[in-house]
Amino acid sequence: MRQSSLVVVANRLPLDDNAAPDGACEWRRSPGGLASALHSILRQAPATWVGWAGGMGPAPRLPDIGSLRLRPVPLTAEEQRGYYEGFANATLWPLYHDAVQQPVFQREWWDTYRAVNQRFAETAAEVADRHAAVWVQDYHLQLVPQMLREMRPDLLIGFFMHVPFPPPELFMQLPRRVELVHGMLGADLVGFQREQAAHNLAQLAKKLLGAETTAGAITVGGRTVRTGAFPVSIDVAEMRALATRPDVRSRARQLRRDLGESKRILLSVDRLDYTKGIEHRLTAYSELLRDGHLKVRDTVLVQVAVPSRERVESYRDLRDRIEGEVGRINGEFGRVGETAIHYLNQPFDRSQLAALYQTADVMVVTPLRDGMNLVAKEFVAAREDDSGTLVLSEFAGAAAELEQAFLVNPHDLDGLKQTLLRALSADPADKQARMRAMRRHLAEHDIMAWARAYLTALDHTGRLARRML
Ligand code: UDP
Ligand code: G6P
Repeated sequence: MRQSSLVVVANRLPLDDNAAPDGACEWRRSPGGLASALHSILRQAPATWVGWAGGMGPAPRLPDIGSLRLRPVPLTAEEQRGYYEGFANATLWPLYHDAVQQPVFQREWWDTYRAVNQRFAETAAEVADRHAAVWVQDYHLQLVPQMLREMRPDLLIGFFMHVPFPPPELFMQLPRRVELVHGMLGADLVGFQREQAAHNLAQLAKKLLGAETTAGAITVGGRTVRTGAFPVSIDVAEMRALATRPDVRSRARQLRRDLGESKRILLSVDRLDYTKGIEHRLTAYSELLRDGHLKVRDTVLVQVAVPSRERVESYRDLRDRIEGEVGRINGEFGRVGETAIHYLNQPFDRSQLAALYQTADVMVVTPLRDGMNLVAKEFVAAREDDSGTLVLSEFAGAAAELEQAFLVNPHDLDGLKQTLLRALSADPADKQARMRAMRRHLAEHDIMAWARAYLTALDHTGRLARRML
């Protein structure tokens, strides 16, 4: 068995097994921000990525991606139900996102969550070289740091939470709250998107484990665990390169022609998830059409809603509600040849997304809660000419950085409607100044800067970051 000096452990591998209609295995890039972010930094790194390859049954044989080795962890159908669909995505995910959807607490999911975490930890322990760094990702694997520490005390262990980490009032609802906090504190460094999340963990460690805390450090059981904020980002250079590619430009021009040369185009790109605020957005848009502030003659909304977690009931219900609402809005306001909403329930690859980003006049990113939201950053990076406006929820981590966006509280429907109108009618010089400032920020805070900051904080020396990036 070849071993690595950097091992990343995430629920998903960067490749996802999407069964083709004839049942054959078809590899696609995995959905979501975590896969986008880590794939950009690791595709050239001498590292091993441990994760689930999607699908059920035995682990497939996977090709290396450059010098990155992929080490699949198989999941049975029952494990997917209890660990992934259940505890991770019906308990933790809604709770961590402000309980905008009621979290489900089902006792039998816990044992599966723990058993699957144990398997990820064992696999990481097998592939990690002596004194290697192991970087564990996200809410699916919160027990792995402590499990790994018990198996391999020689390792340097990092943990990064991509999603929000809630305040004690919410977290304390969890029946397994002590084990979850204890699990994360097996790491040497626990990273979050926002400083507030690190503060939440410190409060919980104090309350649940009697830890001592200072800014950026939690001491418990004789060990000190460091914490901090490391806002994740995107591969700015890749998005810029895509945005200037002739085929992408010509695709963007074609999209503009198809949607109507004179139309103002609103664009949203989300996984079909209740945290993304799609229903609130549709309500605001439909009210603007009803009030007569917007007309299908001159405005159109393109909503990409990528299928996600469709075996979880709340996601299926959400899809039914959204599709009903889109049908209702198009039925009521559309005309022959003029649709109010183009609804696309399918995944797009990066070049298609870059073309869409370039086509939009206003990018509408209005999650009710989001750890970061990379789509907002990708849109900004794709606008080489500083054109276009971004409407961004205050409740996305990205709002702390993209301060020049048109910030909005998506729960406030009247505020959302007004902000959409302001963004549509903003003065060109103002729009350009906002865009330029956001692009400047992103140029200095790209995905490489994120990885460098985290890995340097993990090993203190910068050696790991230099070797990997
Ligand atoms: N994405 C994609 N194809 C799509 C829609 C989205 O590749 O059709 C990517 C998008 O480019 C972004 C990621 O999925 O990198 C979504 O990340 P984000 O942080 O916005 O949200 P998440 O899905 O992680 O909650
Ligand atoms: C978010 C999570 C990731 C997850 C992604 C897609 O970005 O933070 O861990 O991979 O959503 O969700 P999925 O359930 O399809 O992996």
